[in-house]
Amino acid sequence: MRRAVVTRFGPAAEAVGVEDYTPRPPGEGEVQVRMAAAAVNPSDLVAIAGAYPSRTPLPHIPGFEGVGRVCAVGPGVEGLREGDRVLPIGSPGAWQQVKTAEARWCFRPQPELTDEQAALSYINPLTAVRMVRAHAAGPGAGPVAVNAAGSAIGGMLARLLQRRGVRPVALVRGDASRPAVSGPEWAGAVATDRPGWTEELARLTGGGPQVAFDAVGGEEGGRLALSLRSGGSLVHYGLLSGLPLAGDLARRRPDVRVALFRLRDWVHAAPRDEVQESLDEAGRLVLEGAAASTVQASFPLERVREAVRAAQERGGRGKVLLLP
Ligand SMILES: NC(=O)c1ccc[n+]([C@@H]2O[C@H](COP(=O)([O-])OP(=O)(O)OC[C@H]3O[C@@H](n4cnc5c(N)ncnc54)[C@H](OP(=O)(O)O)[C@@H]3O)[C@@H](O)[C@H]2O)c1
Repeated sequence: MRRAVVTRFGPAAEAVGVEDYTPRPPGEGEVQVRMAAAAVNPSDLVAIAGAYPSRTPLPHIPGFEGVGRVCAVGPGVEGLREGDRVLPIGSPGAWQQVKTAEARWCFRPQPELTDEQAALSYINPLTAVRMVRAHAAGPGAGPVAVNAAGSAIGGMLARLLQRRGVRPVALVRGDASRPAVSGPEWAGAVATDRPGWTEELARLTGGGPQVAFDAVGGEEGGRLALSLRSGGSLVHYGLLSGLPLAGDLARRRPDVRVALFRLRDWVHAAPRDEVQESLDEAGRLVLEGAAASTVQASFPLERVREAVRAAQERGGRGKVLLLP
């Protein structure tokens, strides 16, 4: 069998390789899953780069999201049989042909989803659904802004918000991403590489957003927080800049709130039934289009470095999949 592997942290396209391995037989409460498709997400790339060294033992088999079929069942497993299609979540390892996973962390994707859709039906759809539910009540709740708006999750947030009668303002880091935010779900777009972007945002939102979804952090996330109207919230859920938010935000704007969202925390704390219900809802939204991702390219495992480079391309045209 073949799998992607990282033996030393570093820039993802250089640090990841491919090796032969013999899958571990399933132990008590475990299954083996023959992976069919796996996503290449920013969270995979930062883990390969060594952003979470304490919880990323080496060698590291990347891939937090993917779909496959059960191919062997260990002792004590109930409710799963060979051939069942599952999302083996809660641990990395989707970038390999066979993943040995705990059965309690295997969830069922919506049956109507293709493997490509199912492989992208967990991390971004669930995060978008939960954040919109928690932080953007509806049309009366004030204007909303979304940064890294050309990302897969940016598009999902906009479409889910539009369903609630709110059209957010898109923030993109440059003109290359503008085509991705030209749809009717957006109220307008602002490029953050232009001087005066916060004034433009204030104009488009009539005095600043009430809620801003921040996947960037660093300087851009900080300026977005400062641009909120009084009583507003920054929902901080990503670090695409590689830098944290400035530590003095609370002092500079005591009248705004910073709320952190990490899907991982929610999934590990929620009862199993609730995770499956949320995945069912996310899967339906993928089928309806609101939480769907555009796939720009699929690569066999052997071309994992190319897959990583395609995912990192600036102004990319959608998600990249690995087909192990
Ligand atoms: N907290 C959570 O639980 C959670 C869950 C899901 C996703 N996320 C986060 O959400 C973010 C987006 O994920 P995704 O899968 O939707 O991404 P994606 O579709 O793979 O696209 C990456 C996007 O990031 C943008 N980008 C990269 N570096 C940037 C920078 N320094 N400043 C501004 N934009 C930048 C790119 O912009 P261009 O178009 O200009 O290239 C592109 O639109 C990631 O940070 C991810 O970790 C967090």
